[in-house]
Amino acid sequence: MGRRLIAANWKMHGNREFTRRLLADLTAELTRPGACLDNGVEVAIMPPSLLLADCRRGLEKSSLALHGLTLFLGVQNLARWSEGAYTGEISAAMAADQGCRFAIIGHSERRQLMGEDDQAISEKVAQCLASGLKPILCVGETLQEREDGQAFSRVTAQLQQALTQVNPDQWQQVVIAYEPVWAIGTGVSASAEDAQAVHRHIRVTLAALGAPAQEMAVIYGGSVKPETAKQLFAQPDIDGGLIGGASLDANSFASICRAC
Ligand code: 13P
Repeated sequence: MGRRLIAANWKMHGNREFTRRLLADLTAELTRPGACLDNGVEVAIMPPSLLLADCRRGLEKSSLALHGLTLFLGVQNLARWSEGAYTGEISAAMAADQGCRFAIIGHSERRQLMGEDDQAISEKVAQCLASGLKPILCVGETLQEREDGQAFSRVTAQLQQALTQVNPDQWQQVVIAYEPVWAIGTGVSASAEDAQAVHRHIRVTLAALGAPAQEMAVIYGGSVKPETAKQLFAQPDIDGGLIGGASLDANSFASICRAC
């Protein structure tokens, strides 16, 4: 079991009013008497980048700090370059300047819809680390790959290709999210046993790459709901979750945080 983390990936949802309301509701949920949030668990919110400033202000104004709670911010993607003539891109340094601590890298939606390849993903991981951001590197197989018995080999290849530029002293900053493509947004989560098997394999692969695998966070994403969260997070190698749809509802997201 590594460090524990629950991260909210809002994807392309929300606006300023939604942000204000969600953060107010989430604060109420997380600070109500008996909310029982374990303070060993880090919680991060990754809104669309245009909403980062609203999110940051909302968190600063909230009473979370009074209750000893910190919610971290993150971006859902960033550029493979550090600075320059790259219209429409956002750099890791800009994300850090906005107060971000995390960045999702290599989400399957970006791999599939935006044609992101392993080389770009590896460069983005390096950009994160150079700017002090923690990359949440997403890996996971498609349904076809699972049915062909290639889930482990696909994940191994993705890890090997994305982590080529990590220095030995940077491993602790890296978070891995196992997100089986077939479980994302489908309502069908991987079973706790299947997810645990891949998470174990991820740790073995990380160790083979020279990483302190037991101390790193390996989290699960793909249709996590309050009803399934507890069983998933009870597995010895599942350190938390990357939550899509359920993170857009304060009640559901807070329940998932508590389940960790
Ligand atoms: P869902 O929780 O909506 O399945 O999304 C998971 C995900 O892609 C998080 O990055």
